[in-house]
Amino acid sequence: MNVQRGLKGVIATETSISEVDGSNGRLIYRGYEIRNIATGNSFEEIAHLLWFGELPSGEQFEKFKSTFASYRNLSPTMQKVLSVLPVEMDMISVVRTVISSAGDRSMSWKPTIEEAMKLTAVVPTIIAYRKRSLEGGKIISPRLDLTHVENYLYMLNGIEASAEQIRALETYMILTMEHGMNASTFSARVTASTESDLVSAVTSAIGTMKGPLHGGAPSEVIALLNELSEVEDKKNYLRDKIVAGEKLMGFGHRVYKTHDPRSLALKETLSGLVGKDRWLDLALEVESTAIDVLEELKPGRGLYTNVEFYAAAIMKAINMDSSLFTPTFTASRMVGWSAHVLEQAEDNVIFRPLSRYVGK
Ligand code: ACO
Repeated sequence: MNVQRGLKGVIATETSISEVDGSNGRLIYRGYEIRNIATGNSFEEIAHLLWFGELPSGEQFEKFKSTFASYRNLSPTMQKVLSVLPVEMDMISVVRTVISSAGDRSMSWKPTIEEAMKLTAVVPTIIAYRKRSLEGGKIISPRLDLTHVENYLYMLNGIEASAEQIRALETYMILTMEHGMNASTFSARVTASTESDLVSAVTSAIGTMKGPLHGGAPSEVIALLNELSEVEDKKNYLRDKIVAGEKLMGFGHRVYKTHDPRSLALKETLSGLVGKDRWLDLALEVESTAIDVLEELKPGRGLYTNVEFYAAAIMKAINMDSSLFTPTFTASRMVGWSAHVLEQAEDNVIFRPLSRYVGK
């Protein structure tokens, strides 16, 4: 038997949550093409679609929105855990630790949509609480009259964000909610497949999300853009990096061998944002130069920008601190992870692949 390193090309399960069509650059959430739902819908509507399998009717939506919002407050345990975490701890590790502390005897096999809603609703509050307490600012409690995304920006900044900032972040969060059997979703499903609880499954996923080859890439994209903003001859600079064996952050994808549809949608969103100018021009220049260089040095590999590239520029344009990029990605992907855990529980088979022994 061949060893499929990194499980490349292996189909590990069936899913009806999303389809990542890598050859045609399409992403489908439960039958809906992402480009048709990313801008005209709310975070709550698409979360409903992924968890329940359909977009909500008017009445369902009102009920769903208010129940989801009611789970935004931190529990006393979460507040206690947050208060003892060292200041040096990075934000994504904080989110992982606090979410992990939500596990109690009430959460067990099988997972429920209500548990998914509770865990997803509280992530922005964890992030905002931590950020403001590190900065010595006043902690801002969640406001239940605001939408999920409006409230996230309000808790971070202490003022209501502009409609344009909200729309940009909401588009990003919808585009990153779900993405098939990526590394973090796979790890959530592996944990769930042992009949462990939802908290443990998403805690595994957050740990997997942290790595720079997955959700940790956007801060590194900003580092790359900043570095390149000082360089005159970008083509040669990028060439040297690739020849030295470096990977360009924000480029390449395991499944997409053409344009990532999320990157195209985000590029469009960025083009319409006030405050974008520096980042849009720089990002466009780096994208086209890098694609040329990658095609020259890595011909036929199909390397284009992935979702992280324009996400980083958007976050900068809406004044989101780079330390919040991966945590914000986590806040949206909570929906996809939990939808997969619920699906895994419907017809569970424990994941247990083999390894080939090559030792003494
Ligand atoms: N820069 C330069 N070369 C690259 C890049 C890149 N960003 N990505 C892939 N390549 C090259 C590889 O060196 C390899 O070349 P080779 O055939 O000469 O060995 C070839 O393209 C295939 O790449 P693999 O690493 O085998 O592709 P894989 O599917 O394993 O990796 C991954 C995909 C991890 C995303 C990779 O493209 C990468 O590291 N990109 C940079 C990090 C990044 O942006 N991650 C975010 C991904 S999106 C997400 O997770 C939400």
